[in-house]
Amino acid sequence: MPLKLGLIGYPISHSLSPWIHDQFMEKLGMDGEYVLYEITKSELETTINQFKEKGMDGFNVTVPYKEAIIPFLDSLHPDAEKIGAVNTVVMENGKLKGYNTDGQGYVRSIKQSFPDLVESSKRVLLLGAGGAARGIYRALTNESFKEIDIANRTTEKAKSLLEVNQTGIETKILSFDQAEDTLANYDLIIQTTSVGMKPYINDQIISLENLRAGTVASDIIYQPIATTFLNNAEKQQGRIHLGHSMLLYQAQLAFQIWTGKQVPLDTTLLKLEQRLRGI
Ligand code: ATR
Repeated sequence: MPLKLGLIGYPISHSLSPWIHDQFMEKLGMDGEYVLYEITKSELETTINQFKEKGMDGFNVTVPYKEAIIPFLDSLHPDAEKIGAVNTVVMENGKLKGYNTDGQGYVRSIKQSFPDLVESSKRVLLLGAGGAARGIYRALTNESFKEIDIANRTTEKAKSLLEVNQTGIETKILSFDQAEDTLANYDLIIQTTSVGMKPYINDQIISLENLRAGTVASDIIYQPIATTFLNNAEKQQGRIHLGHSMLLYQAQLAFQIWTGKQVPLDTTLLKLEQRLRGI
């Protein structure tokens, strides 16, 4: 049977997800469709009922419905429950189960690019404390690091991330000034705020003056693919991790939840990068 997949969100007309999932289906020789459902909030319930009638295999959920979808689901994976947001839904026997693959996708992508980073002597700094940071922080706390500190404009929001710490790994909450002063302590710095995103491509969340050579600077923004944050990290001899890789790995996990199959990402990662660079 051809796969019936899709994405709910608003606005989503420029989404890269149909391209990504078409690549996955082609790679695995599977037949199917991945359709965009750009809907308003009042259309959420009827759209989900239509999905049930249509016999969808699953769908993704993006901004602004990652939380609003939850009351319409029959069950939640513990990660999605704790994070309070769903980006992937699978339908089995007419029942809908919600997952959140953002954090795990991020961890898969960083392990793949920098396997030397994930070990018990390494220190991580997370910049930002929004929805994306929450998922990433939860997934990171399950890995072996020495500490994972969080810096955010609003300190209270940074503190609220501690609720999703799975292991009790050490975390300090910092101001951006403190983060700038102590930057040389970190092996991995993850930028999760919206600062530097198109069209404000010259903005940068903190100064990287104190970045240590060899530290990995990671940005989850992928438009532009090379943010000012990453360009400046490179000038300081930092190693860089581009945002499109989290996008692809969270999609790989979603596809695995729907089909049970793990798509190899070798060529797709490069193709997506070229697409974003307009090559
Ligand atoms: P997402 O789901 O993409 O993470 P979000 O939940 O709206 O989006 O979170 C946005 C993040 O970017 C937050 O950490 C936000 O900081 P606050 O918690 O202080 O609001 C951060 N952010 C957005 N604009 C910012 C700015 N101009 N300066 C500093 N931080 C900013």
